[in-house]
Amino acid sequence: TEQQMPRHFLDIRDFSGDVIRQIIDLSARVKALQNNRARPLHPERPLEGRTLGLMLAQPSTRTRVSFEVGMGQLGGQVSVLSPGDMQLGRGETIADTARVLSRFLDVIVLRTGKDENLRELAKWSTVPVINGLTPVSHPIQILADVLTFEEHRGPIAGKTLAWIGDGNNVATSLMEAAALLKFNVRLATPAGFAPSERAVSWARENGASIEIFRDPTEAVSGADAVLTDTWVSMGDKDREQRLAAFRPYQVDTALMAQAAPDALFLHCLPAHIGEEVTADVFESPASVVFDEAENRLHTQKGLLLWALGRENG
Ligand code: CP
Ligand code: NVA
Repeated sequence: TEQQMPRHFLDIRDFSGDVIRQIIDLSARVKALQNNRARPLHPERPLEGRTLGLMLAQPSTRTRVSFEVGMGQLGGQVSVLSPGDMQLGRGETIADTARVLSRFLDVIVLRTGKDENLRELAKWSTVPVINGLTPVSHPIQILADVLTFEEHRGPIAGKTLAWIGDGNNVATSLMEAAALLKFNVRLATPAGFAPSERAVSWARENGASIEIFRDPTEAVSGADAVLTDTWVSMGDKDREQRLAAFRPYQVDTALMAQAAPDALFLHCLPAHIGEEVTADVFESPASVVFDEAENRLHTQKGLLLWALGRENG
């Protein structure tokens, strides 16, 4: 019998809008079960006997804990693989590591400082590989962001989200989702920190409205949500230069006032209060950042069920 392609989840753009929608809706159903305390959680243990390998070459709080807890709730187990403690650190190739891990594990999450490492792992792995963040993209974050937006404001199609600050990995995945789920993105970034041209043109070619501004007030004008992220991502070396360039891009109350009256504030976290966002915006009723963090758990569970072919129960 022919070997089926593993259900890798490397980037939003690899999918149709239907698949992304299916994963988000599944995540919402999984979340609804969790909120029903009268019933035991996943008594059918859909991922019983399955093991997730969690390979995080960089720090993580949300990604790590949400995959560990989510896999456990679904009846599966997690093997935490610290790349530094593996033979990878002594020069075993990614190709060999992938072929060995595929014999032990059912699904692998990789967070890496080198995007090529993710592609290489996926090329050789015969089990699904999930992108746990690279410097290029952070697709699992956007599943949670869409779920969070829709819980608070209804269907995201046709809505306008403003991205303020760095045109980074999270911004790339957001623009890809805009094309598939038919929402609009307005970005304001300083010179030298523009979003990836490849991501912008892909999103536009695939039907997204992506507008790029220099002035943050123009980008947020009338927006249904304002998003930002750290000014210094993991692996960025030019901290001082960045802090100077991004200073006018802080999301504060005055900037939020330019958005739609009921605009939400989202941030993938970790946040740096007094840098990309002020305390008053972060702590305001518009801020849904902790719902967003919680939704990492529910979307991770939806994604695992999909990747392991249990999307129908
Ligand atoms: N937002 C996010 O991915 O958080 P962690 O780095 O804590 O996983
Ligand atoms: N852009 C940030 C996101 C952290 C979750 C980074 O890459 O460090």
